[in-house]
Amino acid sequence: MSEALNKETAADAVDGEKRDFIFIATGAVAAAGAASLVWPFVAQMGKAADTLAAGSIEIDLTKVEEGAQLKTLWRGKPIFVRHRTAAEIAEAESVDVAKLPDPETDTDRLVAGPSGNVDPKYLVMVGVCTHFGCVPVGEAGDYDGWYCPCHGSHYDTSGRIRKGPAPKNMVIPPYSYITDTTIKVG
Ligand code: FES
Repeated sequence: MSEALNKETAADAVDGEKRDFIFIATGAVAAAGAASLVWPFVAQMGKAADTLAAGSIEIDLTKVEEGAQLKTLWRGKPIFVRHRTAAEIAEAESVDVAKLPDPETDTDRLVAGPSGNVDPKYLVMVGVCTHFGCVPVGEAGDYDGWYCPCHGSHYDTSGRIRKGPAPKNMVIPPYSYITDTTIKVG
């Protein structure tokens, strides 16, 4: 996918109505009895390295309203960009990290901007459950973050696994700030 098309996709994917959506991906396998889809990790692993290396996307953070989530694709994977509310940030920062299944502070999961400071408003993740690859639903679950309905994994407002079978936090992709309000993923 070209960079221009990727940018267009990112812009078009802003979800102001806070609805979650399900990616329809070739090779995805519906979990029995569940509406979510399994993300085709295996298919990605088979691609040539040069193909995987080619893609990067730029995302304009100003298009993501507070309390909303942008969803786009990067190298065939769903990317979530959540503009967190003050309450969501406070919730993420108040956690006793030592008690987490996959201990990470909220700050560990953020990238500093051009000023060198971390802006906790924007959380950028690969939107794939670390259990068997379903795409979790946002603003759901016992910790007000994301919920994976395939087998019941609950993620908090930092995308950290809190309850259920998933072993790890949702992955933070490689990204950097180009400006205060634009990031480049990949
Ligand atoms: S794939 Fe998410 S809980 Fe199993």
